[in-house]
Amino acid sequence: YLIHWPVEGKYKAAWKALETLYKEEKVRAVGVSNFQIHHLEDLMKDTDVKPVINQVEYHPRLTQKELHAFCQKHDIQLEAWSPLMQGELLDNDVLKEIAEKHGKSVAQIILRWDLQNGVVTIPKSTKEHRIVENSSLYDFELDAEDVSKINELNQNHRVGPDPDNFDF
Ligand SMILES: NC(=O)c1ccc[n+]([C@@H]2O[C@H](COP(=O)([O-])OP(=O)(O)OC[C@H]3O[C@@H](n4cnc5c(N)ncnc54)[C@H](OP(=O)(O)O)[C@@H]3O)[C@@H](O)[C@H]2O)c1
Repeated sequence: YLIHWPVEGKYKAAWKALETLYKEEKVRAVGVSNFQIHHLEDLMKDTDVKPVINQVEYHPRLTQKELHAFCQKHDIQLEAWSPLMQGELLDNDVLKEIAEKHGKSVAQIILRWDLQNGVVTIPKSTKEHRIVENSSLYDFELDAEDVSKINELNQNHRVGPDPDNFDF
C-alpha cells in the first residue's frame, strides 16, 4: 500500500492507518509516493514504521540526486514513475548513441540505467512487444561512461506535478 501524494495536513493520519494495517499483518509492505525529503523527515519523526518505498517521477531529465541519496541512507527503496518521461526522451541524441553502441532500444537503455542506479522502475506500455522489450534488460550492461553521460542529461525537469506545488 502506498500513499499516492503527500497532502499537507493529511499524510500523517493516512500513514497511521497504513501502519495499523501493517501491524495487524493485513498488508505486507507500506510505502509512499511523491514524498520529498522534508515529507519523509516529517513522517519518520512521528512514526514507528518506516516506508519501504518512495515512488517518484524519475528519469534522465529528473535524477532526484538528493532525494535518492536520502532514501539510500534510510533504506527506503526509490521507484521511478514515468521512467521514459512518457515517451518524450526516446529521440534524445545522447541516448540514441548509447542505444546504438549496445544494440538496444533507447527505452531499454533508460530502464537499464534505472536498475544500475538501484532504482525500481515501472514503465507502462499498451503494446505487448514493448512490454517484452521493457523487461529484457539483463543481457547487457552500461559502462561508467554511459552512466555518467545519462546522469548529465538531468535538468530537474518534471513532466508530472511538483509535490510541493500540487493543487490537491
Ligand atoms: N505515483 C504517481 O503519482 C504516478 C504518476 C504518474 C505515473 N505513475 C505510474 O508510472 C507508470 C509509468 O508512467 P507513464 O505511463 O506516465 O510513463 P512512461 O512509462 O515513462 O511512458 C509511457 C509512454 O511510453 C511509451 N512506451 C513505453 N515503452 C516504450 C518503448 N519500449 N518504446 C517506445 N515507447 C514506449 C508508451 O506508449 P505505448 O503505450 O504506445 O507503448 C507511453 O506513451 C504508470 O504505471 C503510472 O501509473 C505514477
